[in-house]
Amino acid sequence: MTDRAHLSLGDAQYEFPVVEGSEGERAIDIRDLRQRTGHITLDPGYANTGSCESAITFIDGERGVLHYRGIPIEQFAAEPNFVEVAWLLIFGALPTAEEYAAFAADLTRHANLDEGMKHHFEGFPRAAPPMAILSAMINALSCFHPELIELEDAERFRMAAARLISKIRTIAAYAYRHSRGQPYIYPDPRLRYVPNFLHMMFAQPYVEYDCDESIVRALNLVLILHADHEQNCSTSTVRMVGSSGANLFASCAAGVCALWGPLHGGANVEVLDMLERIHGGQLTVEEYVRLAKDKDSKVRLMGFGHRVYKNFDPRAKLLGEVAEELLAKLGVKDPLLDVARRLEEIALSDPYFVERKLYPNVDFYSGVILRAIGIPTNMFTVIFAIGRLPGWIAHWWEQRSEGSRIARPRQVYVGNTGTDYLPMERRS
Ligand code: CMC
Repeated sequence: MTDRAHLSLGDAQYEFPVVEGSEGERAIDIRDLRQRTGHITLDPGYANTGSCESAITFIDGERGVLHYRGIPIEQFAAEPNFVEVAWLLIFGALPTAEEYAAFAADLTRHANLDEGMKHHFEGFPRAAPPMAILSAMINALSCFHPELIELEDAERFRMAAARLISKIRTIAAYAYRHSRGQPYIYPDPRLRYVPNFLHMMFAQPYVEYDCDESIVRALNLVLILHADHEQNCSTSTVRMVGSSGANLFASCAAGVCALWGPLHGGANVEVLDMLERIHGGQLTVEEYVRLAKDKDSKVRLMGFGHRVYKNFDPRAKLLGEVAEELLAKLGVKDPLLDVARRLEEIALSDPYFVERKLYPNVDFYSGVILRAIGIPTNMFTVIFAIGRLPGWIAHWWEQRSEGSRIARPRQVYVGNTGTDYLPMERRS
């Protein structure tokens, strides 16, 4: 017999069904709670709230497990191919050779931006944060591709997804070029997804960018490890915005804004700042750890802790290994990697972090890798966004296909009651 959950409220007894996911996760289905009991649940930060059923990504935070469509992420590390993983997440299965070739060709064909879009970059100040430009320009795609606003069928959705995944790297690279006052470099149709991005970032009209294969592999893996993470803040934002019927571009632009925050994707920038402060001699590792434990300091050990992972973050483990490998391959000695290793060692043996189950997360080592590739710190969160985009698209479509209701949480009101409007002259 299926389990039932029992709730007593005063003299009344209620029963609610318990649903079980394909990996054994159990949830009490309370969708008719208010209708039957007159009560709502209160769960700030949604730590105990399942907002949907989803078949895209599975996380077991206690065991440090992350699967995309059932496949453990470690299995993508041998031959990392971000385009393949993007297809997998969005369409539910690994692509066949024909599907892959057609998708890759689509990504190549649509890498250019409308020339009209290019002029928008000119309006932004040089010092504009690239995440602001990214969000604005993804939203602007709605203006330049009105035919992709209504996505009535799977084919049209596929077209929109391919254009967005292709164009986000062009937008990102143009934002960077603009900040440097450098000419925009058009995409090169002979290049694959990641080398093409690096070409648009680093080539000059008169000098080709020589792309090291170890950099291509590392960046592919970085993008893959960021590609989805179930109902995180930005993905929930994309779903929330999409639930109102907003188009794919608008919903993903909102996702970029959510990702920007320092507690979410913006943490990779903060990690680098922290490592640089320590390396620059402003603080020792021990002093930083002491500050991070002091609640009055408002300092956190950036790149540490996670809402879901309470053992280790499998992405951090892979990225730590990639950081070592890449630096060795490129012959780079980055003192920040040593600082990161020492911080990790000290924090992992400190009861404060052990008791709270705080471990390095995806952002802890990604910055060291991006730095070795030559990506400037203010572009780190943009790289996270390029990686996370397939996840946002997959969730947007899953929700749209299921015809879900508009997302609309409730609240417990704790403000004034029975207050009267006062004319200005009677207010003290
Ligand atoms: N440094 C010091 N203390 C911490 C940290 C940290 N990085 N993270 C959590 N804590 C403490 C926190 O102060 C609290 O202590 P107490 O129980 O004494 O009040 C306890 O650990 C639980 O923390 P919480 O804030 O309730 O945990 P949360 O699940 O709400 O937050 C988090 C998760 C990732 C926002 C948080 O761990 C954090 O701020 N980490 C640093 C920022 C960071 O690295 N963010 C990237 C997250 S992974 C990439 C992504 O998903 O975007």
